[in-house]
Amino acid sequence: MDPGLRRDDNTVPTHIAIIMDGNGRWAKARGLPRTAGHKKGAESLRRAMNACRKHGVKHLTVYAFSSENWNRPADEINDLMQLLQHYLRNELQTLHENQIRLRFIGDLSQLDEHLREQVDETVNQTTRHSQFNLTIALSYGGRQEITRAVQKLAKDIQAGRLKPEQVTEQIIAGALDTAELPEPDLLIRTGGEQRISNFLLWQSAYTEFYFCDTLWPDFGESELEAALQDFSKRERRFGTAGES
Ligand code: FPP
Repeated sequence: MDPGLRRDDNTVPTHIAIIMDGNGRWAKARGLPRTAGHKKGAESLRRAMNACRKHGVKHLTVYAFSSENWNRPADEINDLMQLLQHYLRNELQTLHENQIRLRFIGDLSQLDEHLREQVDETVNQTTRHSQFNLTIALSYGGRQEITRAVQKLAKDIQAGRLKPEQVTEQIIAGALDTAELPEPDLLIRTGGEQRISNFLLWQSAYTEFYFCDTLWPDFGESELEAALQDFSKRERRFGTAGES
């Protein structure tokens, strides 16, 4: 990889978000059930997280299951939830060994109670870790997240805890599921589609986007490094005129 891409280089993103797309097509191309693609996708997540840690990225947020994914066939939903349970069981030791804090964003009230308990338990066991942050978006939709935040603020106003004129961008950001997280610097979408699909709508206002054709199960360290390399060349202006 380019020697210019170093840990102490401020061109390395602090926070990467990934839309892990292409599991189904990967499986189909091999005559396998879609679940085989998701299973392979869980391995890619492990690889991507290790590559992020190696390059000094501090936050990784991945889109594991969208609000819209509840419309998929029941078998596929069950398989994905089982895969998640399996992942949580198997990853806990790695999270501890590498001081990784795990978080979830999304409407977890829709999950089966047993899975929700397992999610809460795993999250609670990692709250003291601070070397790296893995956030899994589950039953997540950006519009739904903003709607929940607005409902929460409306209740605060109704109860007299907040005045309408006190509602600022900061207050809204603080009512989102991502309140504790920095905004993503780089959003990667694999699988060839070039859209945001209801992911981190508020948070990605100034995020750099990187699209690649690689299907998620084939995404590895070198693909992540290509995205980092591309990011390091971007000029981020955050809406200003920038330097000329
Ligand atoms: C999109 O591919 C991917 C998903 C809906 C699920 C992503 C889940 C994983 C990568 C599993 C691992 C995650 C955890 C947290 C254990 P798609 O099925 O829409 O693919 P297609 O566009 O090719 O049909």
